[in-house]
Amino acid sequence: MTTAQALPHGINLQDPRLFMNDQAHDAFRVLRAEAPVHWNPGTEQLNGFWSVTKYADILQVSRHPELFISSKGIAGSGLRALDATGTQANQGNVSIITMDPPRHVKMRRLVNKGFTPRAVNAMEPQIRQVTNEILDGIAGRSSCDFVLDVSSQLPLAVICGMMGLERDVWPLMFELTNSVLGSGDPEYQADVPEEERGSGEAARRTAMMGRMRMVEYFREVLERRRREPGTDLPSILLESEVDGEKLTEGDILAFCFLLILAGNETTRNAISGGLVAFSQFPEQKRRLLNDWSLVESAVEEICRWTSPLHHMSRVATADTEIRGQRIAAGDRVIMWYPSANRDEEVFADPYTFDITRDPNEHLAFGIGEHFCLGAGFARKEIRVMFEELFRRFPNIEVTAPPDRLRSNFINGIKHLQVAY
Ligand code: HEM
Repeated sequence: MTTAQALPHGINLQDPRLFMNDQAHDAFRVLRAEAPVHWNPGTEQLNGFWSVTKYADILQVSRHPELFISSKGIAGSGLRALDATGTQANQGNVSIITMDPPRHVKMRRLVNKGFTPRAVNAMEPQIRQVTNEILDGIAGRSSCDFVLDVSSQLPLAVICGMMGLERDVWPLMFELTNSVLGSGDPEYQADVPEEERGSGEAARRTAMMGRMRMVEYFREVLERRRREPGTDLPSILLESEVDGEKLTEGDILAFCFLLILAGNETTRNAISGGLVAFSQFPEQKRRLLNDWSLVESAVEEICRWTSPLHHMSRVATADTEIRGQRIAAGDRVIMWYPSANRDEEVFADPYTFDITRDPNEHLAFGIGEHFCLGAGFARKEIRVMFEELFRRFPNIEVTAPPDRLRSNFINGIKHLQVAY
């Protein structure tokens, strides 16, 4: 185990208020300069971890999946009590995101076909149609909550469509993904008595309830697909084999969860955060409106700027070094993507939102073995949304500060008031 170092300037990346109050970039700037590979000793409940904040170091960790593994959990630092018994918060059914080589790549291949550039392009007309239906829904008003009415709706429609889920359950999927991934935010702790909301225990119970209800729901989906197979992702998984063996129900459930969570929570925040960025940098919006050939690089800049996932983590399997700092076998390493995406050594003028930025090799989708499977869909959804949104409502304005999620994992915006 590693010895604790003093935290520079009292920075505590385990405190979700840092992220909720949009102060994380100030903390990352200090860490990159003064302690780029920094040991956080943790708390009574949470294990300590290494914070890695430089772009090059995140590349090093991501590109060595045998040395820095995912199977001991990828979100946060993990509960001390659970780790002491050798188990993990993510234990149970394992999805590809918490799987290591060689099984990881075999499982990923099962669904790869549904996520290729060809598959994404084939879906574009539907994505555009859904986008316009969503925008029709706000057209009769002059203001709305952009998150609830617009940005959350497109990713929800796309991933639910791929999974063959009927329209009437989409609101349930929205609610459950919020309670699983936003479990630390009192707004999503509806099943916990009001006076207990905001505590660690409330977060644990909220996430657990969300997962249980999801298991229940997807069990029924699998039951129905067994009787009446379709062409959707759950049907494909039911038919699939790895090393000559069918997947277990647990494997399939975990895959379904991952897809519904990952498909929903991230793209929504890229779209909302993108609109906030265009409001802060109005000249960038004018540029795009005058020259739509910039849309692809604008999408990349939205991803860099918003970095919808704050972090992913890994555990070292052997003693090693990052930037000369000794990392012991068993230590957890957290990679902070928003920090890498503002790294002064990689990005010129990193605190400026510049839709012409080139090159723009941001790490918003991770890199290496676990590179985001849905990146093609996310990019397409962001692009189509801004094309249609600005075509129909070129004067759309953010009218209040974003209401941010209380989380150091998801860079979420819960509500965003806009007028148009
Ligand atoms: C802007 C939107 C998105 C962002 C920023 C994002 C980010 C990420 C990141 C950083 C990872 C890497 C995890 C790691 O290295 O441990 C990842 C993995 C993944 N993402 Fe995304 N994602 C987005 C959208 C989506 C969408 C729309 C889907 C599904 C339709 C999706 C499905 C997945 C899956 C299945 C993985 C696991 C891949 C693996 O472990 O091999 N993501 N994503």
